[in-house]
Amino acid sequence: MKLLLSIESTCDETAAAVIAEDLSVRSSVVATQHDLHARFGGVVPEIASRAHVERVLPVIHAALEQAGAELEDLEAIAVAYRPGLAGSLLVGLTAAKSLCVALGIPLIAIDHLQAHVYACRMAAGRDVFPCVGMVVSGGHTNLYRCATALDFAPLGGTIDDAAGEAFDKIASLLGLGFPGGPALERAAQNGDPRRFRLPRPLLDDPQRIAFSFSGLKTAVRYEVFGPGKLPTVPPPIDAQLAADLAAAAQQAVVDCLVGKAALALEITGFRRLCLGGGVAANREFRQRLAALAAEQRVEVIVAPPELCTDNAAMGAIAVEKWRAGQFAPLDLDIEAGLDRI
Ligand code: KG4
Ligand code: ZN
Repeated sequence: MKLLLSIESTCDETAAAVIAEDLSVRSSVVATQHDLHARFGGVVPEIASRAHVERVLPVIHAALEQAGAELEDLEAIAVAYRPGLAGSLLVGLTAAKSLCVALGIPLIAIDHLQAHVYACRMAAGRDVFPCVGMVVSGGHTNLYRCATALDFAPLGGTIDDAAGEAFDKIASLLGLGFPGGPALERAAQNGDPRRFRLPRPLLDDPQRIAFSFSGLKTAVRYEVFGPGKLPTVPPPIDAQLAADLAAAAQQAVVDCLVGKAALALEITGFRRLCLGGGVAANREFRQRLAALAAEQRVEVIVAPPELCTDNAAMGAIAVEKWRAGQFAPLDLDIEAGLDRI
């Protein structure tokens, strides 16, 4: 194989990357839509899919141009076809299929969550399997037993909100802005996490790899507004109260994430954890994982920010599929939801 084009459009980033068989990334282009969704305080699916339609071809064009490649140089098209927002996924998959038909080259189907873990393989520049794979983003909070790059078995995940979603919603409650994760992390720097004791559901269950964050959001809400209906126009929140709650919420989420990461390492017996997804940018989370690594003498690999947030370079997992002869039929459909964790 000379080059493959990887396309990513699962949520609100339109991305394309040109990748060679030796896993070198010749170009990686990401068009974010944060500006389009910010005033709604969250991703609006209809707006996201329309923006993907407008951007997918220019982004592919830019990726080819930056790689100094022509369409004729491509030997396969890879696309993230699950999981994600239905309308968003459809845009990437349709673009990928069209290119496959036009160029007469095969399609490779990528699981977006496997790609998030594979981002660590890309960052490390060496084999990282077997490992515990962890994906913590706005849509997912999952742990996997990754025996090889392509052998992913779910160990457990969230039973309600994702960790990033919890950060986003709590940040919005506290009037901290969107996307909430980075805003909440900034506010937490000036806060005292000990002022509030927030719940850490399921953390004490040593048998179960699972997370639940919806109660945390409600607990924060009660601390600010009390029980009952939320005010239609929220009153301004005292900056110190917001900072203290941000710090307490961040600590509660990180406690759960690190606790279950440790449990996954124990259950699998693997000595390495590979973390991907936007929440991996959180410094408190990284520091606590580093402490876990030192304490348990395991290796923790965290992809750098540009490989943690949605991108198409992590679609390099398609090279492994190419080598294994795993191609997708052209009637491949999207799989928006998670019928498995
Ligand atoms: O992986 P990602 O870019 O998109 C998907 O959800 O697929 O992750 C975005 C999520 C958002 O919920 C955002 O608030 C969160 O990652 N995030 C953070 C931080 N940076 C991004 N959460 C906590 N601390 C951060 N520094
Ligand atoms: Zn993602």
